[in-house]
Amino acid sequence: MGYPITKKENLSAIDFFMEVEAPHVARSWKPGQFVVLILDEKGERVPMSVYYAENGKVGMFIRRHGKTTLKLWYEFDVGDELLSVTGPLGRPIKVKHYGNVVFVSDAVCAQAESYATLKAMKEAGNYTIAIQSFENKANVYPERYLAKPVADEHYLTTEDGSVGIKGHYLDVLKELIEKDRVDIVFGGGKLGSLKKLAELTRPYGIPTIVTVRQIMVDGTGMCGSCRVLYGGEIKFACRDGPMLDAHKIDWDDAIKRNARFTEQEKLAKERYIEELKARGVI
Ligand SMILES: Cc1cc2nc3c(=O)[nH]c(=O)nc-3n(C[C@H](O)[C@H](O)[C@H](O)COP(=O)(O)OP(=O)(O)OC[C@H]3O[C@@H](n4cnc5c(N)ncnc54)[C@H](O)[C@@H]3O)c2cc1C
Ligand code: FES
Repeated sequence: MGYPITKKENLSAIDFFMEVEAPHVARSWKPGQFVVLILDEKGERVPMSVYYAENGKVGMFIRRHGKTTLKLWYEFDVGDELLSVTGPLGRPIKVKHYGNVVFVSDAVCAQAESYATLKAMKEAGNYTIAIQSFENKANVYPERYLAKPVADEHYLTTEDGSVGIKGHYLDVLKELIEKDRVDIVFGGGKLGSLKKLAELTRPYGIPTIVTVRQIMVDGTGMCGSCRVLYGGEIKFACRDGPMLDAHKIDWDDAIKRNARFTEQEKLAKERYIEELKARGVI
């Protein structure tokens, strides 16, 4: 028996929302943890962050990135079943009273984590601040999918200024830090931005916990694919993270390792698009 898709909706020019029935995940998932999807018998294992996990269902935000995520968008609909939804995987974040908690996000996985993390932090009595960055208006999600309901303060930025504040979460965060309004930062998204985030918060000694996205295979600490250099040690993003202390991560190594299959991914995507065209799907 598979895992039925219960909802699916386009979010923007590049991302979509999907909900699947996975009661075993919904029963025990906590913010910070992720799932691994397998679409069908020939499918690869695809890690996904969780937007919510409740009432037996798991919601996710997914980017139409390469072969697998395009296949999910073009060939799977509400009522279809995924072969496997494994999880929850990884370590939950520590939810407690910190004071002013900021979540920064500039990519699909982190937009989901922003909602999930701040919801839990708000319930724990924190003052919550979301800073959600998008490239441009076409990539911004409908309002109901932003982290607004769980944020006491919400900032939306676009790089080109077509909606919200012109700029990036780093600009808004810098201003908040200079006003002494930040006790802890959580975040995720583009690795290059997370490296800059670590450099921004380090001199102020502000704890900064972020999702370090690495290529994962088994997702349980067995294969070594997702290893990160971490304060002189080796950690596995899937087992020890994925949310880790940004100040301890060797970002140059993490960025290089995450890009090691770029050529193969590009080729697989091109071939799949050709196949879709030949079948008249697009
Ligand atoms: C903990 C974690 C959480 C994630 N959460 C989300 C999410 O919420 N939404 C989302 O859209 N994506 C998320 N990702 C990335 C997602 O797994 C990739 O987008 C997906 O695997 C792409 O597959 P593809 O065949 O469509 O694209 P591909 O062309 O195969 O890959 C495109 C890019 O996705 C990443 N990627 C590919 N394979 C993997 C893999 N096995 N493990 C990790 N990253 C990979 C790489 O950066 C790669 O360059 C997450 C990754 C991790 C590690
Ligand atoms: S994915 Fe294999 S060790 Fe993390």
